[in-house]
Amino acid sequence: MKLVKHLANLGYGSRKEVAWMFREGRVTDAAGEVLYADDPLDHGNVRVDGEPLDPPSGLVLMLHKPAGHTCSTKDKGRTVYDLLPPRFIQRDPVLSTVGRLDRDTTGLLLMTDDGMLLHRIVSPKSKLPKFYEATLANDLRGDEVALFASGTLMLEAETTPLLPAELEVLGPRHVRLALHEGRYHQVRRMFAAIGNHVEALHRPQVGGLALDDLAEGQWRALDAADLARLFNTETA
Ligand code: URA
Repeated sequence: MKLVKHLANLGYGSRKEVAWMFREGRVTDAAGEVLYADDPLDHGNVRVDGEPLDPPSGLVLMLHKPAGHTCSTKDKGRTVYDLLPPRFIQRDPVLSTVGRLDRDTTGLLLMTDDGMLLHRIVSPKSKLPKFYEATLANDLRGDEVALFASGTLMLEAETTPLLPAELEVLGPRHVRLALHEGRYHQVRRMFAAIGNHVEALHRPQVGGLALDDLAEGQWRALDAADLARLFNTETA
């Protein structure tokens, strides 16, 4: 692939805009030598305005999503893309969220431009648990652990019961929940189904990958070790 196309695919601008960046001498190698639009691609050796390039395609990142941001590019208002470099929304292949978190849910959100990987993460075959911590409006009744584990709980307007889920009671109105599927607004609807209400919802971990010390609003690209951790359900 020609360098000009590679930079356009990474969202640095349209082909035309990127061609201008070359003419202006803004694209160099690591030693500061000016590069040309038709030069062969050597990703790690390219600088734009002296800065290394964004990660190439195959990017997987995790974001600590704050409340108030939606996961859809089509929504009005703040989206998770506003928390990433502006170029990222123009990448080709497109950078998508892996599933979604509600506007008011905080926590670990994965994003990738790798369709196969996205599929693997969301596929029930991968059996990747998703962990949530919820603060409830009302005290627990006492039967929730057994009910959620039963595999019989039905959500309103659905025709198949939920898969068994593990609920850990952390306090009278505070729980940790492990889900093995991802239905629409699942946690909020599970508690609504038993007459409770989720006041705050946070996802600290997906599979074996935890947010750890990633601050709210921050993101980082995942490496091979992170992906191994993500798919390691032994530690989850
Ligand atoms: N379940 C919900 O209800 N909301 C989320 O954001 C994620 C899971």
